[in-house]
Amino acid sequence: MFFPDRYSGFDSRYIIRDKRRLKILRFIAATSQAVREAAAIIREGGLVAFPTETVYGLGADALNALAVAQIFEVKNRPRFDPLIVHIADFSSIRKICSPTDRRAMKLMERFWPGPLTLVLPKTQVIPDIVTAGLPTVAVRMPLHPVALELIKEAGTPIAAPSANPFGYLSPTTAEHVREQIGERVDLILDGGRCSVGVESTIIDLTGQVPAILRLGGLTIDEIEVVIGEVEISTNNPERPLSPGQLPRHYSPRTPVRISKTEDFGAPKGKKIGVLAFSLPREGLPYEMVEVLSPQGDLREAAANFFSCLHRLDRAGLDIICAEPVPEIGLGRAIMDRLRRASGEYERKKHGGVSWPMGS
Ligand code: TXA
Ligand code: MG
Repeated sequence: MFFPDRYSGFDSRYIIRDKRRLKILRFIAATSQAVREAAAIIREGGLVAFPTETVYGLGADALNALAVAQIFEVKNRPRFDPLIVHIADFSSIRKICSPTDRRAMKLMERFWPGPLTLVLPKTQVIPDIVTAGLPTVAVRMPLHPVALELIKEAGTPIAAPSANPFGYLSPTTAEHVREQIGERVDLILDGGRCSVGVESTIIDLTGQVPAILRLGGLTIDEIEVVIGEVEISTNNPERPLSPGQLPRHYSPRTPVRISKTEDFGAPKGKKIGVLAFSLPREGLPYEMVEVLSPQGDLREAAANFFSCLHRLDRAGLDIICAEPVPEIGLGRAIMDRLRRASGEYERKKHGGVSWPMGS
């Protein structure tokens, strides 16, 4: 079992929903009763929300089409949107996909377990509902020890999208999951806050040139060091393979505008919240200010990103003014999500025509 140092000695809880009440129980170690219970639920075709280093996932047995169908129902997710299959050891790769490409092998060796998802040709065992009928499957090995232990205990790969209603903010704590879909899952494993905080980077390795389908927790620079130049294909409406590519996604209910606070023409009488990158000016005339990283560190900003937006979204504001962050390293993934949350791509690309947005 791979236990990165920063997780050793973690102490988390798990929450089980039974028919009438929420039981809150202590979760001591990844091999505890909690994970075994979660694994049994997966094997029986149920749904378990679990922590990964990126965001919380809503998991089902990837080889059980009926179990996977429930994920789509709970999330209200369109069936054209394929899921990521999570594995815990290198020996399961060939069961799921054909990693014929040398670049794929290099990336797996270098970055797994970690926030990188590879799109590769799929094998027969993966049901069509998982891949939305595509001949490819998205695969990743997460870094969080609870996720790895759960997959191993379950003895089956786990299909899991982020554990939020389709189109809404992703969850980075067990509490976010409980608030959003807690009533509809069999169990939530609480493994603390997600350390990366934005979803995995998705790279398609089925074409000549590797294509990034979603910017995420692993930067393009880190990938290019290993396999050379990649194409960025996150905004191709002709090829909306990843709904993370939809012009509106990751969206809070409160409208978001991207703007520096000094340029933000604050409408009078409106309750305005600010999502600031680093320490904002003193005395801003706003209802609420959330700071992504007081030191201006992009890793910290990514880790706090969804939590800050969740808090702003709960505060009954009329509008959120989100300050742009530098578009380098993880800043690219943050800005990509902010643009989708604000509907900027939607307005620019489609002249007001509304794209599917999810609920
Ligand atoms: O960090 C993550 O990746 C998290 C954690 C839970 O692992 N999962 C996640 O899943 O973000 P989800 O479903 O919210 O986003 C997965 C994205 C979707 O946009 C989907 O369209 C894309 O992966 N995807 C899945 N299979 C694909 C395929 N065969 N080809 C292209 N895109 C695919
Ligand atoms: Mg998602």
